[in-house]
Amino acid sequence: MKNVKPDTILTHAGSNPGANHGIVNPPVYHASTMLFPTVESLEDAGHSFEGVRYGRIGTPTSQAFETAVAELEGAYKAVTVPSGLAAITTALLAFVSAGDHILVSDSVYGPNRLFCSDMLKRMGVEAEFYDPLIGAGIGRLMRPNTRVVFVESPGSLTFEIQDVPAIAAAAKDAGAVVMIDNTWATPLFFRPFDHGVDLSIHAATKYMVGHSDAMLGVITARTPELWHRLKRYAVQLGTCAGPDDIYLGLRGLRTMGTRLRQHQATGIELAQWLRNRQEVARVLHPALPDDPGHALWRRDFLGASGLFAMELKPVSKQAISAFLNGMELFGMGYSWGGYESLILPANPEKLRTASTWKSQGPMIRLHAGLEDIGDLIADLERGLSRLGEAA
Ligand SMILES: Cc1ncc(COP(=O)(O)O)c(C=O)c1O
Repeated sequence: MKNVKPDTILTHAGSNPGANHGIVNPPVYHASTMLFPTVESLEDAGHSFEGVRYGRIGTPTSQAFETAVAELEGAYKAVTVPSGLAAITTALLAFVSAGDHILVSDSVYGPNRLFCSDMLKRMGVEAEFYDPLIGAGIGRLMRPNTRVVFVESPGSLTFEIQDVPAIAAAAKDAGAVVMIDNTWATPLFFRPFDHGVDLSIHAATKYMVGHSDAMLGVITARTPELWHRLKRYAVQLGTCAGPDDIYLGLRGLRTMGTRLRQHQATGIELAQWLRNRQEVARVLHPALPDDPGHALWRRDFLGASGLFAMELKPVSKQAISAFLNGMELFGMGYSWGGYESLILPANPEKLRTASTWKSQGPMIRLHAGLEDIGDLIADLERGLSRLGEAA
């Protein structure tokens, strides 16, 4: 689709009712084996990554999802994998070799950090973590063997906004591939390829699926060369997602714009309400005007999703338990991006090595779901009263 807006892409991309009896949604292909009518057609299919020749390499279901995500993000093409973490590890493994050095933001998603410092290290790749706020200063960390610069903005748990264009420009000067974990913003709220990024990584498990009922990942590539390399190694690794989960990803995309705008509105309202509470020391949400990342967020982002955090004033562990254990609407669980609100204690200081994270008191991560805002505030208000009584 040419010259249409993201909501139109979300509604129609990857769908072709004319090829399927007029049925609106594409069918779910459960497939391992594709039969070839002749030796010649089998030979013609060769080892290409285009078309459909083996279930693990791609089906009309995975291709429909990839078409939609790539079109939405303005990428050349996408590769579907079974989880967000698989999207991270597949992208990294496709681009590093023994002896390489990579630069990874100190604020990345925890299991990404573990993969870099454990498995990649075993394979002879040196992962150096850098201060997420380094900006153009990352140029000083570049070495002749720096192959990848990994950014995540805002960072997991701490929500610092990175100066992605400055980091990407320095990485380009040094010939490194720039990868972003764009799960928080989705292609709707951050356009990585307009800011110098090469590969965009999504835990589709979150807002794309959007209903907390499937694990899925997707990586989009800026150019045919990047995509071919990525696809080649994704195929060698043997990663492929299940058709029903991919279908849930494609179905989720249809409503992602509408959902995300509501997550954004509710998230900002909750953040503003919490900021005015005396129990709260600080709210970490880049859309708040006094957030340290607000200027960069305004410059580079088109919106904010529903995930943010707060620092409470110092309080006992028992008071935190009284607060969180009694929540009625906010559930306690890790995977966010579904329709429901979540609340969770967070400990980012334990993860840092290149920068220090100092919190005044316990940190809490929240996900603003699609419930009524008044009901959510009432749930938090009761929770903070319990916290006060137990303190
Ligand atoms: C920012 C970010 N990236 C990646 C992932 C991993 O996604 P998945 O759970 O689908 O492996 C998560 C999961 O919480 C995440 O928060």
